[in-house]
Parts: sequence; structure tokens; C-alpha cells
Amino acid sequence: MAKILAGMGTSHVPGVGAAMDNGKTDEPYWQPLFKGFEPLRAWHKDNVPDVNIIVFNDHATSYSLDGYSTFTIGVAEEFQPADEGWGPRKVPVVKGHPELAWHLVEQLMAEEFDMAVAGSLDVDHGLTVPLSIAYDQPDEWPAAVVPLCVNVIQHPLPTSARCLKLGQAIGRAIASFDQDISVGIWGTGGLSHQLGGERAGVVNPDFDKAFLDNLVNNPQANAALSHTDFIREAGCEGIEMIMWNVMRGALNENVKETYRFYHIPVSATAYGAIILENA
Ligand code: DHB
Ligand code: FE
Repeated sequence: MAKILAGMGTSHVPGVGAAMDNGKTDEPYWQPLFKGFEPLRAWHKDNVPDVNIIVFNDHATSYSLDGYSTFTIGVAEEFQPADEGWGPRKVPVVKGHPELAWHLVEQLMAEEFDMAVAGSLDVDHGLTVPLSIAYDQPDEWPAAVVPLCVNVIQHPLPTSARCLKLGQAIGRAIASFDQDISVGIWGTGGLSHQLGGERAGVVNPDFDKAFLDNLVNNPQANAALSHTDFIREAGCEGIEMIMWNVMRGALNENVKETYRFYHIPVSATAYGAIILENA
């Protein structure tokens, strides 16, 4: 049977990928961030699962605002890095895991989550930047990936509570997968940030800290937050944090926090990362 190795949360700020791709990580602006990644990268070196389920969002890259599915699972053999306007990032192709992906689709549909299925999907910074943060610059990514895309762009969005419940169903689906593999589950996006409009630049460390604390010990408190709560407290794009609930839901009720890192500013955002292991 498949087993969960751990859960990871991380922001996916595109500038972090660009700093790596353009050799700027030693510059004073980026140095504290990449220093902060050192324990994270050491952990990932020692803890490589067979597959990572990466919960992420597309930023109107592969989807258009004319049509967003709420939850999508990528079932392809591989996923190309997307062209977001500057050409695709020169990072390895993302290898899929069709067997686990289809098992998730079937189990989640049986649990009344109406999943969309993507037979092809170019993946933008929402998925490739977390891989770069965890694994640096390898010739190929060390684990296969099942992309799970959440609509946090085109309202109406799924609720925070729905995301936690989806994660719980994913946890059950992993436990019923008939292969002896280990699975990482990643929530990406956030933390507080707003990229446009009158409140552009908003960050809220108090809210982010409370969210991370509750993520560990009281995920129901984060599930109870409304979209308005997130947008008021954490900015329009801070709503991406609901994807961390999917990761948390897949884990046991009791978890141990192995790593946490928080840093401001990265681009116009608060950067956050966490690793949670089942207690
Ligand atoms: C930026 C973009 C994002 O998608 C995000 O989650 C954070 C920051 C940016 O353009 O800086
Ligand atoms: Fe984003």
C-alpha cells in the first residue's frame, strides 16, 4: 500500500525561479532566502518519495479566464514547463504518475469530488518553482509528480473548508493505492500578498503566523475562514493559501512540524515554507 512520507507547504513566487535560472541567488536581496532554504533542501535530499502530489494553481497560463475547472488532476506521462511570456523555464520536464493519478480521480469521484482530468497540461511557476526550491537544479526531478490544480483565480473559488475535505479524501485514496510507494503531498502558493489594485503590496505577518500555527494544530480554524477573511487579511492573491489545506487534510490529525521558514519581502509577498510529518 502507498504511504504518505510528509506534507510540504511553500510559496511559489516566480522571482525565486528567475533568480535561480539567471544565477542571482548570491545577490544580497536573495541570499537570506536561499540561506533559509538550506535545511529544507537537506531534508528533501534525505527524503525523496516515489511521487509528489503537488497542489498548485495555474495563473491563467494553461487555462484562460473563459474556463477554469475547480479541481483538476493531471494524468499525463509528462508535463512541460509552460511559457509564461519569456519562454519556458529551462528546468527538467515533469514526469507524471498516471497510475496514481487515475486512482486519485476514481477515488475522489467516488467520494463526490467532481474532478476534471487533464491529459495534457503545461505547468507554470505555481508548480515548477516549488520543485526548484526543494530540489535546486538537478538534471531531472528526483520524483514523479501528480499535478493537482485548484482554481484560485476565477471566482467563485472552492471554499477553504472544501480544500481541507479534498485533502482528507486524498489521504484515504493514497492509503488505498495498491502499490508500495511513498508519496509526498505539497500545498503551494501564498502567503499574504496582493499584486495589483489599491492595496498592492499588502503583507500580514500576524495573519500568516496564525495560519501556519493553525495549519499544524488546528486546521479546522483555517477551514472556517471565508474568502473575504483571506482577501481582507492576506490580500487578493493570499487566497492561494487555501491550497495548503489540501496538503494538511491528507495528513494525520496529529503532525510534527519539522521545518518552518518565513521571510519578507520576496517580490511583493511574504514567503513561507513548512514541512509536516505524521506524528
Ligand atoms: C508573484 C506571483 C505569484 O503567482 C505569487 O504567488 C506570488 C508572487 C509575483 O509575480 O511576484
Ligand atoms: Fe501565485
